[in-house]
Amino acid sequence: MIYPEGTVLRYATVTRVNHWITAICFVLLTLSGLSMFHPIFFFLSALFGGGQWTRAVHPWIGIVLALSYAGLVYQFWRDNFWTPDDTAWVRKFDLILVNEEEGVPEVGQFNAGQKFVFWAMALLIPVLLFTGLVIWEVYFSAFTPLVVQRIAVLLHSLAAIAAILVWIVHVYAGIWVRGSMQAMTRGYVTPGWAWRHHRKWLRGLTGARSPGPTSRPEGVP
Ligand code: HEM
Repeated sequence: MIYPEGTVLRYATVTRVNHWITAICFVLLTLSGLSMFHPIFFFLSALFGGGQWTRAVHPWIGIVLALSYAGLVYQFWRDNFWTPDDTAWVRKFDLILVNEEEGVPEVGQFNAGQKFVFWAMALLIPVLLFTGLVIWEVYFSAFTPLVVQRIAVLLHSLAAIAAILVWIVHVYAGIWVRGSMQAMTRGYVTPGWAWRHHRKWLRGLTGARSPGPTSRPEGVP
């Protein structure tokens, strides 16, 4: 893959394919899941060939999502450890909300919001997977008593609602921070984008050191 000169690689092709498989599965699961969640959404089952088909394919898409997200966890977990800089970043959230990034601590590969999305999904997807297996009647209903299956349905729905809310925040942030979509569709970003949103990450790539408060000559702001 050839990237335009002067750009910075953010996501390799394999990572992007992995991400979009996850995203497509998530959207399909949301649509099929909602159609089974409440009668007002039942019309969505038409997208999957009717109620029976929806019920049959939903768990399989869930398996693909879980495997695919495991691929993202494998690639990203090291870059998502929480650091004191993340806490400092969260404290400056008022500046971030008005798109003012000067005065906000420098961000590495991912900011605190992205780390939250990552770990929230890393928790919610296994909950969805395990509760989903318990309520996958055709294969597993004989293994657990009805009361366990009822609790599993409740936990499955609650985890799904939480995951959908996290996903809405994630997509909103991806659209709101201009240039992020290109990172996940084409793989590269401009150095300006990296400097503005992920300065510590860019410094790591270029080997440039942060000037730090003591290296500046007296009187220079
Ligand atoms: C239509 C749905 C989705 C869209 C439009 C979308 C968009 C994006 C974009 C633009 C980025 C790059 C952000 C950056 O580098 O600054 C990204 C990264 C990422 N996405 Fe998604 N995404 C979607 C669905 C999902 C789903 C369903 C998951 C997980 C279940 C997910 C997990 C991630 C992770 C872990 C990253 C890397 C770190 C981060 O930015 O949080 N995405 N996504």
